[in-house]
Amino acid sequence: MTEFIREGSSLHLRNSHVSYVIEVLEGGFATHAYFGKRLERFHPQSFRRRYGLGEQGSFSVQNCALNHTPQEYPSYGLGEMRIGALTVRAADGTATCDVRVVSHSVEEGKPALAGLPATFGGEAKTLCLELKDEHLGLSVTLLYTIFDDCDVIARSALIRNDSAETLSLERADSLCLDVPDSGWELLTLSGDWARERSVVRRPLAPGVQGVYSLRGASSLIASPFMALCRPEATETGGEVLAAALVYSGSFAAEAERDSRDCVRLRLGLNEQHFGWRLDPGESFQTPEAVLAWSDQGLNGMSAAFHRLCAAHVVRGKYAHAPRPILINNWEATYFNFDQEKLLKIARTAADVGVELFVLDDGWFGKRDDDHSSLGDWTVDRRKLPDGLDSLARKINALGLKFGLWFEPEMISPDSDLYRAHPDWAMQVKGRTPIEGRFQLILDLSRGDVCEYMYHAVADILSSAPISYVKWDMNRNFSNIGSCQLPPEKQRELPHRYMLGLYSVLERLTRDFPDVLFESCSSGGGRFDLGMLYYMPQTWCSDDTDALCRCQIQWGTSLVFPPFAMGSHVSAVPNHQTGRTTPLNTRANVAMSGCFGFELDLNKLPAEELEEVRKVIQRVKRLRETLLYGRFHRLLSPFAGNDTAWLTVAQDGHEAVLMLTRTQARPNTDPPVIRLSGLEEKAVYRIEETGETYGGDELMNAGLCVPLAWGDAASVSLTLKRVDA
Ligand code: GLA
Repeated sequence: MTEFIREGSSLHLRNSHVSYVIEVLEGGFATHAYFGKRLERFHPQSFRRRYGLGEQGSFSVQNCALNHTPQEYPSYGLGEMRIGALTVRAADGTATCDVRVVSHSVEEGKPALAGLPATFGGEAKTLCLELKDEHLGLSVTLLYTIFDDCDVIARSALIRNDSAETLSLERADSLCLDVPDSGWELLTLSGDWARERSVVRRPLAPGVQGVYSLRGASSLIASPFMALCRPEATETGGEVLAAALVYSGSFAAEAERDSRDCVRLRLGLNEQHFGWRLDPGESFQTPEAVLAWSDQGLNGMSAAFHRLCAAHVVRGKYAHAPRPILINNWEATYFNFDQEKLLKIARTAADVGVELFVLDDGWFGKRDDDHSSLGDWTVDRRKLPDGLDSLARKINALGLKFGLWFEPEMISPDSDLYRAHPDWAMQVKGRTPIEGRFQLILDLSRGDVCEYMYHAVADILSSAPISYVKWDMNRNFSNIGSCQLPPEKQRELPHRYMLGLYSVLERLTRDFPDVLFESCSSGGGRFDLGMLYYMPQTWCSDDTDALCRCQIQWGTSLVFPPFAMGSHVSAVPNHQTGRTTPLNTRANVAMSGCFGFELDLNKLPAEELEEVRKVIQRVKRLRETLLYGRFHRLLSPFAGNDTAWLTVAQDGHEAVLMLTRTQARPNTDPPVIRLSGLEEKAVYRIEETGETYGGDELMNAGLCVPLAWGDAASVSLTLKRVDA
């Protein structure tokens, strides 16, 4: 149940686990009083005393008092000397802003945010806090939504110019949270191509620290996410407070420890890629940010985010459906294929039980390598003489669905599209554009370009029985300029790009509701809650090496559930690392997400093909649990030689344990793993060994799991509850 309680100057939102309290001071300052475990009541005097806010109600901003006050949406200029959430430049060139609460209201449910991905639905309550700067003629509506079924608060700000002059937004964060002590460590996810989302945990030093993207995508380098963990917090216990952005472009996520050892978290658009001109009557909607709280350690935090994704972020037919087991031809053929080669891969795949064949890059224009043709989305008849429709039908006749790769946001200088519309590429006039992977980026701030992009994809989807799309984005922003935007709006381009992209995705997913969309950006370079709103799964990484994937999927799981992670078995030696790992290891790791293959099955020896057949049968039996069960990280690949995680079915009837050891070490004992998330009193039978254990034994005494000889050995065990 969600509740809103107003008592005196306190506005209190809560569900059965968490509370969020705003204290409105005299004069209308919105201060942040509390976020954490659910409170029965909030008495404000202690909070007010701590910050010198006047227990009887007197508060004055004189002497820069705001500089020591926890605030909900601090603005620049009014005695706040930390970095704030809002900077507005007035027509006279000054930037002091003073927004005060004028009213509040509460509505049931969760309002949508115009033009942006955002959480939705379920039993929820939303507090709308109206603030105004009378001098500027500026209004800010802060939204706070609490959900009944996950310990998450969603926040955003709508900023409106009610004055007669133009105002310029220079910063408009999605979230600011002032935390009253600095006894935390900062946890972020950092990486690069083929090694996305490593877990980085560091002490909080005085000053500003954090992660950001200036790439026009949430990026391979950092995720729009940060967590504060108590130093003693582990996977299973301790307090964690985390924030993530529902957005896919450039961002900044920062924690500032101030001189009084308070911590300010800020999350939102990166100010270097942002600026917005608000003419009289216009408004600006910030992207949404979500805050999670847990006293059950990092697994508790992840459970909150995973539940949020399942119930309030991912939409459409595939949100809760079994995801098809796919085979993708990329690593099997790269650009070098023809119809017969593809059909040969598909035939074998169909025979062993694969459900979807995905044709990757190289099917359009004259794309024999990555130097050309992005933008020319017509089938290459040299490779596929009978066309896409015919190929798709032949694949369907084998019992497989057909899927297709696109990279619609891009344009190759060597393309008919570029020759016809050179001004459609993002560029700074007069400068030679910098290419990335020999390509430029379309200017999606333009309505005509978005219209083209919609039709380029929609026409193909209507032309053949296509049931899956891999939507790729393989380079980041440079030469950020639009041939169409006036000079005073050029700063708006990075965000306008995202709005253009989102509008096309909204249209395509609405018009093609039966298509399963998977997003990709050189692997997991745009793995964020914004993309998940449109596309229920994301290709986790171009690195399919099983040992690397243990780390990548571990880090990814901090925020994202297994059903969001595309993960495939690929060939050995692995194309990214040169490492050879056993087939069962590759399969065990890959089945912990949206399972598939990225190789030519015809090249496997007969006994491995049989193994593949059996794995597919097992995944089909277990996929509801593997994808939609509750995911528990057990042994971290960042901490030791073993990786283990457990997925427990929502109704608890079964669970799947995955253990992978990185390096064989002689003369050591087999690992003993203490499981999580089982019923203490229940009895479980391990299918593969026939052994029976109590839930309490498995979680407290642990399970000793021997592994085969050799590096990268792995085991996957199925636990069935047998006492019920
Ligand atoms: C990106 C993707 C790969 C593949 C190639 C095709 O790198 O991440 O999976 O689709 O593009 O060019």
